[in-house]
Parts: sequence; C-alpha cells; structure tokens
Amino acid sequence: MKKLTLSLILLPMLLTACGKQPTPAAPEATAPKGDLAAGKIVAEAKCFSCHGLDGKGTGPDIPNLGGQKEAYLLNALNGYRTGTRQHAALQQLSSELTEADVNNIAAYYASQKPASAGAATGAADTVVAGKAAAAACGACHGMDGNSKMPGTPSLAGQHPGFLLNAMQDYKDNSRKDAIMAVQVAKLDKVAMENIAAYFAAQTPVARDKPAAGSATAGEPLSGKCGGCHGQQGHSADEKTPSLAGQDAQYLVKTMKNYRDGGRAHAEMKAMLAGVKDPDLANIAAFYVAQQPKQALATQPTAGQQWAERCDKCHGATNDNPAMVAPHLAGQPVAYLVKALTDYREGKRVQSAMHAMGAPLSDADIQAIAEYYAGQPPK
Ligand code: HEC
Ligand code: HEC
Ligand code: HEC
Ligand code: HEC
Repeated sequence: MKKLTLSLILLPMLLTACGKQPTPAAPEATAPKGDLAAGKIVAEAKCFSCHGLDGKGTGPDIPNLGGQKEAYLLNALNGYRTGTRQHAALQQLSSELTEADVNNIAAYYASQKPASAGAATGAADTVVAGKAAAAACGACHGMDGNSKMPGTPSLAGQHPGFLLNAMQDYKDNSRKDAIMAVQVAKLDKVAMENIAAYFAAQTPVARDKPAAGSATAGEPLSGKCGGCHGQQGHSADEKTPSLAGQDAQYLVKTMKNYRDGGRAHAEMKAMLAGVKDPDLANIAAFYVAQQPKQALATQPTAGQQWAERCDKCHGATNDNPAMVAPHLAGQPVAYLVKALTDYREGKRVQSAMHAMGAPLSDADIQAIAEYYAGQPPK
C-alpha cells in the first residue's frame, strides 16, 4: 500500500519529466488520488471541529487545509502517524486513520477552496514595526537615531546585533544605566529586535559638536582599536559598535567607564587600562572626525524580501514532487510563527526548512508570518 501511494505521487512527475511537449502541463490535470465523498465523511467525524468542513482553521493556531497541495497533506498526516512530526492531538487522531482514510481526507481537503485567516494586523516589516516601537526613544536619540544631545549616543546605522545586545544588557542590568533601564523595562524580545532593525536601517550623520581633544594625536592611539572597530571606526562585526561620528562626550564618558569599571567588559577594560584622560579625549576626537557609515545589512528586514527566497519552493510555480512545499498564503499568523519556530528549534524536522529557519530572529519570523498571512490564498 505504501508503495502504491508513493508511485501515485511520483507518476505525474515521471509523466512531466518524460513528456517533451512544448506546452506546460496544466496543474489541474492531476486527478485526486482519494475518494472525495469518503474523505468528507472522515472530515465530518474527526476533523470538522478544528478544520471545518471547508478546511478553514477554527482557531488562531490551526492551519487552513482547504486548497493545500494534496501531496503535502499526505506527507503531513503520514508525518504525524510515523512520529517524524510531533503534535500529541494530531498524532493520536491520525493513528486512528486507515491508509485509505488518509488518502481520502487529503484529497477531500485539497479539493476545497483555500481560505484566508483574515487580514494580518502587524507590519510584516521589522523596520516599520521598529519605528512605531521606537517612538519613545526619539526624544533623546533622535527619531532617525541621530542624537543631538551631548552625552547621548547616536544609534543610526549601528549593527542590529550590537543594538539588541545593548538593550538586553540594560534590561538585565549587566550594563548599568538608570535612564536606559527604565526605557527598555517594558520591551519584549520582538520589540527590541524590531527597534534594532529600525535604527540600524537609518543613515548616520556626523555630530556637529567638535571634540575637545586632538584628532591628530588620537589617530596613532586608535591603531590597536581598529582590529575590532575598523580603522576608521566602521565596525564590520555584528556585536561591535561603530565609533565613527559618535558623540564626543559619550565616547569619553564610556571609555572612562570601561577603564575604571563603571561599564563591565573585560576586553575593553584591558584595551584602555592606563590610558590617561587627555589621551581618551584625543581618541574620541579622532573617531568624532570620521565620517559615519551605515553597517552593512546582512539580512532582509521585510517579510516580502524573505518571501523572494522562500517562494523558490513555496511559490505557485514549484510543483517539484521531490520538494513538496505547502502553500503559505492566508495561513493564520500564530500558526506560521509556531511552524517556523518549530523548524528553527529542531522540534519539527525538515532539512531544507531547518536551514531556512536557523538564522531567523523572533522579529523576522513575526514579519514573515504577517506577510504570508496577508497574502490572498491561491
Ligand atoms: C483538536 C483540534 C484538531 C483536530 C480535531 C484536527 N486537527 Fe489537524 N491540526 C490541528 C492543529 C493545532 C494543527 C497544527 C499542528 C502542528 O503544529 O503540527 C493541525 C495540523 C494539521 C495538518 C498539517 C497542516 C500543515 O499545514 O502542515 C493536517 C494535514 C491536519 N491537521 C489534518 C487533520 C485531519 C485530517 C484531521 C481529522 C482526521 C484533523 N487534522 C483533526 C488541530 C486539529
Ligand atoms: C531620556 C533619554 C533617553 C531615552 C528616552 C532613551 N535613551 Fe537610550 N540612551 C540614553 C543615554 C544617556 C545612553 C547612554 C547610557 C550609557 O552610558 O550606557 C543611552 C544608550 C542607549 C543605547 C546604547 C548605545 C551604545 O552605543 O552603546 C541603546 C541601544 C539605546 N540607548 C536604546 C534606546 C532605546 C531603544 C530607547 C527607546 C525605547 C531609548 N534608548 C530611549 C538616553 C535615552
Ligand atoms: C577585541 C576587540 C576590541 C578592541 C581591540 C577594542 N574594542 Fe572597543 N568594543 C569592543 C566591543 C565588543 C564593544 C561592545 C562592548 C559592550 O557591549 O559593552 C566595544 C565598545 C567600545 C565602546 C563603546 C561604544 C558604544 O557605542 O557604546 C567604545 C567607546 C570603544 N569600544 C572604544 C575602543 C577603543 C578606543 C579601543 C582601542 C583603544 C577599543 N575600543 C578596542 C571590542 C573591542
Ligand atoms: C528548498 C525549498 C524550501 C525553501 C527555500 C523554503 N521552504 Fe518552507 N518548506 C519546504 C518544505 C519541503 C516544507 C514541508 C516540510 C514538512 O513537511 O515539514 C516547508 C514547510 C514550511 C512551513 C510549514 C507550513 C505548514 O503548513 O505547516 C512554513 C511556515 C515554511 N515552510 C516557511 C518558509 C519560509 C518563511 C521560507 C523562507 C524564509 C521557506 N519556507 C523556504 C521547503 C522550502
């Protein structure tokens, strides 16, 4: 029976692969492999309460099945049955199904009209979501991340990884600052990741306040800093801040803090050990005089940009039977978030999807889910 199912799945591929007709095969040409009427009876008995008769999920974390690829529904159900995909309720339910039930129910739901979970309310873009969340930061850091307040750092164009680290350090008090502790206290991880994406995407401009020290005297002293912060203060490392064009007063205060123990960081403490105050002012003057540059973005920030990568497999044109990727459009946000988090954390196993999921932050996952949930289902 297993063999039969497999050959039925492979058959259309073989036909398409062998046929040399110039006209592409119409997707509708694949006849359903199961019995629709029999499938409906199973749906009424066992699936209806959660997936409806038309396949529309009845809750925010229940996927839509209507119009989903039949081969994918089969894969998913067999995954629950064999335990390669884990979910207590579904594993129990699908273990009660016969091979014929599985074929019939997959054919039945695939034949239903695809549904939409309803318009997504989120931004589908970490930068856009970050701008809203950063409203309270603008008073000190500038709404575009270019602060005009002496002693307050600019955030524009910094690496998002550094900005996120700094916020988390303020939040868990490993970086001590009374003002910033209050600012980040109510932010969750997704909000902090969005804010980091927003400020990282802003163009940094040089501060207009000249520094008190001498840039010429500071340049040779900055030699040993360049390995991490970049020769001109443009850091290439995700966790190291850029210093070019930063506020002079903030740089001096911060270097003193590292040197004297007010800001804990072993490497920075070692770098600044024994450096006298006038030299700190000179180093600051050197960095203030450098033209700031936005750190290179390493990842997309919008759900739509991610989708350009994802749609190689999930797009309407992929009918590769060896890589049966489900339709994502119109699925509920919460379900997509859970599915992607499960892949990232290895709770749901699929090698292609694990590789895609691994670099995604919580905020990326949220943006992608909002994007796909808002697409009209095909
Ligand atoms: C108690 C509610 C409930 C019932 C009843 C139920 N499901 Fe589900 N179903 C879910 C949830 C929740 C998920 C998502 C599970 C996960 O994250 O893997 C799901 C996932 C699925 C999937 C995977 C969809 C995808 O996009 O990956 C399929 C296929 C499926 N169900 C089919 C069925 C069938 C067929 C029945 C009836 C035999 C059924 N379900 C009954 C709640 C239910
Ligand atoms: C009342 C003024 C004020 C507000 C409002 C404020 N900040 Fe700050 N922020 C500061 C000051 C001052 C510092 C420097 C603190 C220190 O020395 O560690 C700072 C430091 C930071 C840093 C570290 C930057 C670096 O280069 O090390 C980050 C990141 C940051 N703030 C993010 C935020 C975010 C996000 C918000 C809004 C949720 C915010 N700030 C709101 C004053 C403010
Ligand atoms: C081994 C790598 C390394 C070297 C070398 C190094 N730094 Fe740093 N620096 C870092 C890292 C990482 C941070 C972020 C630390 C943190 O989160 O507190 C940092 C933070 C800073 C900051 C705080 C900037 C901000 O926006 O909060 C200043 C200022 C600074 N370094 C100056 C210097 C100077 C000056 C030198 C040379 C004398 C130097 N650094 C050498 C890795 C380095
Ligand atoms: C190389 C092909 C490929 C690429 C690229 C790919 N996927 Fe997938 N995806 C798959 C396959 C195959 C599955 C079905 C895996 C399974 O059965 O668990 C899947 C499953 C999923 C699911 C689960 C859907 C459901 O109904 O349960 C989500 C969500 C998803 N992918 C999102 C994405 C996103 C977002 C991207 C881009 C960042 C992406 N995928 C890129 C092949 C791919």
